[in-house]
Amino acid sequence: MPYAPGDATKGASLFKTRCAQCHTVGAGEPNKVGPNLHGIFGRKTGQVEGFSYTDANVKKGITWSDDTLFEYLENPKKYIPGTKMAFAGLKKEKDRCDLITYLKGATA
Ligand code: HEC
Repeated sequence: MPYAPGDATKGASLFKTRCAQCHTVGAGEPNKVGPNLHGIFGRKTGQVEGFSYTDANVKKGITWSDDTLFEYLENPKKYIPGTKMAFAGLKKEKDRCDLITYLKGATA
């Protein structure tokens, strides 16, 4: 199953419990353990200024979109071997759809 629009409210609560300790989404918000995700859609990997990425993340070189995030978030260490993002992944397709739907609004 590919990405399909989901429930942004459920996505927001997933973000809060699974991602927010390491990531912010708003314009001008600081980097935490992970980079600020504002404007992530349509941007290449590893572009947030002032954030110290691994080479693996920078050199992945793909553009973040519904589909690339959908694959990445299932198993970040498989999609970007060598990443320092300490997150096991969201195995449920529905969770990833909900989260990506939320991110589209929240990072725009
Ligand atoms: C324990 C902290 C942590 C958690 C939890 C976490 N991340 Fe990350 N994330 C990171 C770090 C650190 C990086 C940078 C990885 C690197 O440079 O190898 C990163 C990188 C990313 C990137 C790539 C950014 C870019 O500019 O290329 C995305 C997208 C991302 N995370 C989304 C998420 C989402 C969505 C969640 C929740 C499902 C999440 N992360 C959970 C720490 C975390």
